[in-house]
Amino acid sequence: MDKLIITGGQPLGGEVRISGAKNSALPILAATLLASEPITICNLPHLHDITTMLELLRRMGVELTIDEKLSVEVDTSTIQETHAPYELVKTMRASILVLGPLLAHFGEAEVSLPGGCAIGSRPVDQHIRGLEAMGAEVLVEEGYIRARSNGRLKGAKIFFDMVTVTGTENILMAAALADGQSILENAAREPEVVDLAECLIAMGADITGHGTDTIVVNGVEKLHGCRYSVLPDRIETGTYLAAVAAAGGKIKVKDTRPDTLDAVLQKFREAGAEIETGPDWISLDMKGKRPKAVSITTAPYPAFPTDMQAQFAAINIVADGVGIIKETVFENRFMHMQEMIRMGADVTIDGNTAVVKGVEKLQGAPVMATDLRASASLVIAALVAEGDTTIDRIYHIDRGYECIEEKLQLLGASIRRVPG
Ligand code: UD1
Repeated sequence: MDKLIITGGQPLGGEVRISGAKNSALPILAATLLASEPITICNLPHLHDITTMLELLRRMGVELTIDEKLSVEVDTSTIQETHAPYELVKTMRASILVLGPLLAHFGEAEVSLPGGCAIGSRPVDQHIRGLEAMGAEVLVEEGYIRARSNGRLKGAKIFFDMVTVTGTENILMAAALADGQSILENAAREPEVVDLAECLIAMGADITGHGTDTIVVNGVEKLHGCRYSVLPDRIETGTYLAAVAAAGGKIKVKDTRPDTLDAVLQKFREAGAEIETGPDWISLDMKGKRPKAVSITTAPYPAFPTDMQAQFAAINIVADGVGIIKETVFENRFMHMQEMIRMGADVTIDGNTAVVKGVEKLQGAPVMATDLRASASLVIAALVAEGDTTIDRIYHIDRGYECIEEKLQLLGASIRRVPG
């Protein structure tokens, strides 16, 4: 397994271009299963999770054509099966996103149950309940979700018990081809849900209210082809800003969407960063100062995202003061803290709350990445620490960060990958 070796202790500076959002690209690729004509998706990030989703589509018999600009044309007219096997789903939970589209377009789907994962049990009951409310027959047997519909799914009123991003996306996609009107209440408002809805609209869907907690979908009989460009990744954006907030220096992040990061930018300002924004860029300047500790509570959008929690932990461990971090979305998302403690961080964890007392210095150490965002936070901690940090199991980071070494090298970081 590859490792990253980072020599930290230097401020960073420069410009970074942000890639397309993984969490938009995955549902949008799944949504191509709804269309009766080829769809071209642009600005796809080059990530393992995207390759997994393309492989999933390919295994179903879908035809994929990649052009010279690395846009992918997806033609589902050649589909042969509606099955998502365990070996792919186990490597990427978001494979569950094919369930709604397969069922809505082809009347059947068999998708392996995603298991637990490092950050919690992550059930999919809301996805299943929503599809059942639309008239599907769903059986969970032999580790698979087997769903069927007798003719078209029926529009329905669906109230989600909790805000679920992929749950909302699965039901939104199914509703797009259902017979009649669906009303999704307590829907997720994440920018990636909005991006999916916009793509579906470009395919001919009738959707309103996306970006609010009530989405109204008037089902249509067919969805047509389109060309759609994926939204920039707000979490990748926040991660590079966090690296500079922790290590010191100045950065301009380009090809991004500042309006999707209000809660996060607010916290950078509280941490003492000077932030400026333009239509598609954000600059952050620490003005030579150590960051101030900030307290955060994660919650669904537009509140502070759970996917930025670990990166802010990495700022707080070297900040001036005490930051209190509350994780309300996932039950077990503090694994990075244990690794940071090995680098000299002062953290006390009590249930879903971590009290982080900033220390002046961290020391490099061998650490292990446990999940995607935890890996990113360890990279940030390593950039701050004195000496060398070796991060093991970095395959997690390749699931969500395109060219991370190259981008950090552009900012002046000393980072290299060694094959394990
Ligand atoms: C998505 C994101 C992930 C992000 C998360 C929260 C993708 C591919 N992934 O994950 O990066 O961290 O949103 O912003 O977009 N829940 C249930 N039952 C369900 C569904 C969810 O109990 O049927 C619970 C989960 O266990 C969790 C909470 O709801 O505690 C939110 O999870 P959810 O929004 O569904 O996360 P994902 O969509 O899997």
